[in-house]
Amino acid sequence: MKVPLLDVKAQNAPLRGALLEAMARVMDSGGFILGPEVEAFEKELAAMLGVARAIGVSSGTDALLVALMALGVGPGDEVVTTPLSFYATVGCIARLGGRPVFADIEPESFNLDPAAAAAACGAKTRALIPVHLFGRPATLPKVEQPVVEDAAQSIGACKLGGIMSCLSFFPSKNLGAFGDAGAVLCDDAQIADNVVLLRTHGSRPKYVHHVVGGNFRLDALQAAILRVKLPRLAGWTAARRANAERYRRMFAAAPGIPAELRLPADVPGHIYNQFVIRAPRRDGLREHLAKQGIGTEVYYPLALHLQPCFAGWGYRAGAFPHAEAATREALALPIFAELTEEQQGFVVGQIAAYYC
Ligand SMILES: Cc1ncc(COP(=O)(O)O)c(C=O)c1O
Repeated sequence: MKVPLLDVKAQNAPLRGALLEAMARVMDSGGFILGPEVEAFEKELAAMLGVARAIGVSSGTDALLVALMALGVGPGDEVVTTPLSFYATVGCIARLGGRPVFADIEPESFNLDPAAAAAACGAKTRALIPVHLFGRPATLPKVEQPVVEDAAQSIGACKLGGIMSCLSFFPSKNLGAFGDAGAVLCDDAQIADNVVLLRTHGSRPKYVHHVVGGNFRLDALQAAILRVKLPRLAGWTAARRANAERYRRMFAAAPGIPAELRLPADVPGHIYNQFVIRAPRRDGLREHLAKQGIGTEVYYPLALHLQPCFAGWGYRAGAFPHAEAATREALALPIFAELTEEQQGFVVGQIAAYYC
């Protein structure tokens, strides 16, 4: 039996007709960038998530970048964030000439420790970026500086709590496009207007540029595809939550699972973009599962403060022990909505076999 980490084809197959129809509609319209398809998607997304504005952008990375630009983050500014995330969380700070200030994670949730984040704020702190990692809602730090939520992995996991929230529609996300796409969510009309301006090179009207922005526009084709998928999102997320619950039951009943192997705790709102366990002898387990045809992934093998491109900031190994431990122990198992009970049984059985 083969169990991939993710099976996007299984998700798309039942929607084939509707997806082709949406793509043909865009082709026939002759409009490919922004336009009515994107506007309709933005309205539907905002309504579903209960926010005043959703602004479609070119990727989750660009959502973070444009959000920090809208706050005026620039050279010398500090942004407090987590050392355990995808690179883009910190890359966007560096690209603006800012400096990330890391605070460690909570070992149980893998999310930025809100108290440590608040303690890391200083006179130069311009913003904070907590990440709702793996789809689990993070507790936001109580601070006076603006909080930009990195919700790339956590669409719908929690209500907007910061000044902006950034989504990714990378194909592996719970709501995935057929390429790169993202969105910025916010309730503040002035900030939303600023993001819209920055999204098209700061121009209004065309060819008159008020501020230096970028090309952060969303394609009509991606918006049309996302509109087909959006009404199914709640069902897919419910299926992921049910799969997580089934893993818990199966692990509890499996003989030989070591006590040190930890499953993610269930918390309200968790959308399980990833189901990440902590596993003793993680790399050996991963190799064993790969030989059995089971896909897994390590999110993330190297903490952000130790990335070679950030060496100039002077962070050393040992600075954030909880995040560094996670890079040695965390392993994502298949959790996609279409995963079958049989496949999950095989995964748990093979994990038990490894430890026996
Ligand atoms: C936590 C996190 N932040 C940011 C991003 C960037 O999103 P994108 O790949 O759409 O640029 C991702 C995507 O993988 C992510 O997982």
